[in-house]
Amino acid sequence: MIGIFDSGVGGLTALAELRRLMPHTDMIYLADREHAPYGTKCEDEILALSESCIERLAKTGAEKILIACCTASTLHSRLTEGARRITTPIIAPAARAAHRVSRGKIAVIATEATVRSHAFRRELLSVGRCEVAEYATQELVSMVEGGASDKKPLTSEQKGLLSRLLEPVRASRADTLILGCTHFPHLRGHIAAMLPGVNLISPSREGALEIAKSTEDRGGGRTVFL
Ligand code: DGL
Repeated sequence: MIGIFDSGVGGLTALAELRRLMPHTDMIYLADREHAPYGTKCEDEILALSESCIERLAKTGAEKILIACCTASTLHSRLTEGARRITTPIIAPAARAAHRVSRGKIAVIATEATVRSHAFRRELLSVGRCEVAEYATQELVSMVEGGASDKKPLTSEQKGLLSRLLEPVRASRADTLILGCTHFPHLRGHIAAMLPGVNLISPSREGALEIAKSTEDRGGGRTVFL
């Protein structure tokens, strides 16, 4: 059984990718709504919350866990050894995917904590040469938790906010944008419409690919929500 966690609905974008890749595997999803959002908290708090999510999932029977939260993934190296061993973080796979398609200018939008950690910048520069610009767009997390998604048109207020938050990305002339928070792929279509020609990378998708690559797809195909 594979466990997946996030602070809320963001990780559902990873669950959807994983389900598509692994139709038979049993999965268990934990949304830590009680402590959301993670992106405005300090490192120690995010670390403690992540460890408790991992423990809950492992106790329920998850043998492998996808950290479907970029904010929590930035702290993977600080997890206890046991927790580290069974978890897959999603920053590195996203950075590799961005390098595969980028011509050299990569932008990242993410939570306040993820941007403060510079985890994407570090990872991108360790993969190869590129220019990196990181922007905190924490407001998009609340927007998605409030129900905004590609399934319906944005209100004019939501459109205005999204456009304002993406303005620095447009100005940076990045050719590739990492949607560095798993909530953001829920707005992928709206973001693509505002940034035509820019490659969009989803850590949810890349993380799901990473775990699928090393796991046999077998089981009853059940999804349980904790
Ligand atoms: N979806 C999460 C992430 O990828 C957390 C968002 C939040 O709770 O602030 O960073």
